Amino acid sequence: MALDFKHASVLEGVRFTAQVGVPNVVQGLFRKREAVVSAVGKLPADHLAYRLVEGLERKYGPDPFWVRVGAEEALLLTHPEDIEVVLGGSPSPFASDPDAKRKGMAAFQPTALTISRGNLWADRRAFAESVLGTGQPVHQLAAEFAAAAVAEADALLGLDRPMTFDDLNACFQRLTRVVVLGTAAEDDTELTDLLGQLMAAGNKMPGEPAKGYDELHARIEQYVAAPDPTALTGLITSAPQSAATDVPGQLIHWLFAMGDTLPANLMRTLMVLATHSKVAGVARSEVAGKDMADVEDVVGATYLAGCILEAMRLWPTTALFGRVLEEDFRWKNGQKTPAGTQVLIHNLFNHRNRARVPYADRFSPEEWTSGTAADDWRFNFFSHGPQGCPGAGMAIFLGQAFLGRVVNAGELKVRKGPRIDPGRLPYALDIYALEISL
Ligand code: HEM
Repeated sequence: MALDFKHASVLEGVRFTAQVGVPNVVQGLFRKREAVVSAVGKLPADHLAYRLVEGLERKYGPDPFWVRVGAEEALLLTHPEDIEVVLGGSPSPFASDPDAKRKGMAAFQPTALTISRGNLWADRRAFAESVLGTGQPVHQLAAEFAAAAVAEADALLGLDRPMTFDDLNACFQRLTRVVVLGTAAEDDTELTDLLGQLMAAGNKMPGEPAKGYDELHARIEQYVAAPDPTALTGLITSAPQSAATDVPGQLIHWLFAMGDTLPANLMRTLMVLATHSKVAGVARSEVAGKDMADVEDVVGATYLAGCILEAMRLWPTTALFGRVLEEDFRWKNGQKTPAGTQVLIHNLFNHRNRARVPYADRFSPEEWTSGTAADDWRFNFFSHGPQGCPGAGMAIFLGQAFLGRVVNAGELKVRKGPRIDPGRLPYALDIYALEISL
């Protein structure tokens, strides 16, 4: 039995650090830097990263292999069975708090679920799953949430100019405040701005709460203390929790995931709908005559859900996952790697792996509605396993209600943005360079 995984060369490590590791840091780990993301979107940076990992996998895969990132070697995984071992074993023994992530998140959410371990993780996870309704077919406040998403779609449809990402982002930040904190928070843009500043501070990986964190925490605590029965705050008292849960600290993740990450994915979905007339036609006929404030109609828009999932596969907002072993671990080839070993999963490569995914660079929503994509551990925009995104169902539901309403209103057109070839979609799609008329 082989006892060591293969090692990429030092030169390949330098390339990997420059083309995969560094761009993820330069663009901003937590708050994307607009100018940099746009510049990177124009360069073939993601393409280079894909090509590099493709070459490495061909040479050293399909088993995990060692590659240098900066001064240290990390184990890079590309095979779905190995990915399942790691994500199925997260957060223990594969902890999801590698140094850079923990130090960065400490700025704006030092008590976050995603960087918690052991019993503390289990405590915070139970709280999140209860309030977010993880795994339930429909959230108990789905009717309220669908109505709020449709209201935001109507606000955008009322624009007398093409929509930019900033417009969409502002709408989703308001929607998020209403869904998470309640109607009293609808216009509390100061809270959103404060979170944005703290996330930007996180890019510098300070390892401690940034200035303003206590204020953010206190502001959220005030909303939690006056729960709104139509929002997630209304479900908090009945959710499992302990003194260690730190409820306001948990809500911070929900605010940025729903307010920033979700609209980024929906902007790319809109771009595809505006450039793929056949896809848009199927989506439109699915929701024709439907009321997107009606929960059943929203849930029934499965093709639209497939469109969102497929845009997320093509352009994952988390390009690279890191895990760190909290104890020694023996792999199936017999090798034992010590506690502290870094493990990497490169979503961008795995999602587009041309050798293994027949529809790698094409938009194929039907793979989610009638294919096997949903069971494929290679596709990790929401992750998989015990630490998979507990807000995935809610994110897709809000996206369906919002997009259903927009698609129903008429044809989408790209007014500004790159020309794309539907047969070979690019590795990066710069949301800041897009203008779409609704
Ligand atoms: C399109 C939108 C979203 C995307 C792409 C997304 C993606 C992800 C990913 C990839 C992870 C795993 C991170 C890792 O293990 O390193 C994750 C975890 C998480 N997500 Fe989401 N998410 C989204 C929306 C949401 C929403 C709306 C919520 C809450 C309302 C949410 C709450 C969380 C939480 C609390 C975790 C940590 C889970 C744990 O560590 O046990 N996410 N998400």
